Amino acid sequence: MAAHAAAEFHSLFGRQPTGVWSAPGRVNLIGEHTDYNDGFVLPFALPYRIAVAASARSDGMLAVTTVGDDGRPQQAGPVRIADLAPGSVNGWAAYPSGVAWVLHAEGFSGGADLVVAGDVPAGAGLSSSHALQCATALALLGLAGVELDEPDAPNRTTIGRWVQRSENNFVGVPTGLLDQTASLSCVRDHVLFLDVRSGEMEQVPFNTSSAGLAVLVIDTKAKHSHADSGYRERRAGCERAASILGIPALRDVTEAGLDDVLASLPDDLRPLVRHVVTENERVVRTVEHLRASRIADIGDLLTASHASMRDDYRISCLELDVAVDTALDAGALGARMTGGGFGGSAIALVAADAVRSVGERVQAAFAARGLTAPGLFTAVPSPGAGRDT
Ligand code: GLA
Repeated sequence: MAAHAAAEFHSLFGRQPTGVWSAPGRVNLIGEHTDYNDGFVLPFALPYRIAVAASARSDGMLAVTTVGDDGRPQQAGPVRIADLAPGSVNGWAAYPSGVAWVLHAEGFSGGADLVVAGDVPAGAGLSSSHALQCATALALLGLAGVELDEPDAPNRTTIGRWVQRSENNFVGVPTGLLDQTASLSCVRDHVLFLDVRSGEMEQVPFNTSSAGLAVLVIDTKAKHSHADSGYRERRAGCERAASILGIPALRDVTEAGLDDVLASLPDDLRPLVRHVVTENERVVRTVEHLRASRIADIGDLLTASHASMRDDYRISCLELDVAVDTALDAGALGARMTGGGFGGSAIALVAADAVRSVGERVQAAFAARGLTAPGLFTAVPSPGAGRDT
């Protein structure tokens, strides 16, 4: 992807970019809708990335070009970075612009020409937009002379919070910290155990191939129109529950105290709270298995997580349930939807030699129901964001 972005930059501007930075999409192994409740998540980075080839401009303007599937460049801007404000840019260009807006406020204010190329499936719930934001952040910081991981540079956690701020306040979606942190901080062959409240991170080994296993990603190609409002409503419900309980966040409810807590809440909030509390517990148990190299033992936790999202959090949909149920019927050790829900992707933990048969069964199940054919690929935990050239 880095070479592709650099070549596109060269063909547009007739010179090499100053550098190329890239960031991956992610799947979340488990720990869904826990991030904005100050809880635990466990993502890994995909082997698919968005690369940003970049050069500085001296006029304080930002121009971003992406190359579409048809090979035709599409340019947004140039816009004056100092004039950016929430609502001033819409569509895909809001993502890189929002990052420039936050970095400007943080004192990194140079203009830039950016050319974007990537292979993270778009609209699949695999965080292609976060990969774009993270790669943009690193590119703009890099042009400002800030090299990631150097002693005086803002660390990856800080950059993740800036990216979240741009998404919440500029793009206008109230998402948590899961996706940016995954894209910035994941490492090869590990899942990232993040405690969102403390910011503490542990890289937990997750080498599926040495265990004879694989993670099959099933992109259902579904995106239901109420995805954004559904997300907002769930988040607002969790915040309402925490405020009724007089606690900072649902993270503070333990599984042992759950029954009493549920009894003190209105009916409509109980399933939400039950999901968040049990999901945090499932993340912790999954991590315990992985620390002890018991990868196969996490299957039931993945499947229980899906049931909790389907029945309590109510964010699954026909396509996700067909993907999960069929994968399980076909022998997967565990399966669940991943990401925000209402469409997007599911993951299934399968024996390496069953990847093909499970995939074929899922394809057949989608075809039998007249659903759009799903996208299928296996994913190994891959490196997080960084500079390529
Ligand atoms: C989306 C959001 C994340 C997180 C997940 C659900 O991916 O961007 O912050 O809330 O949904 O776990």
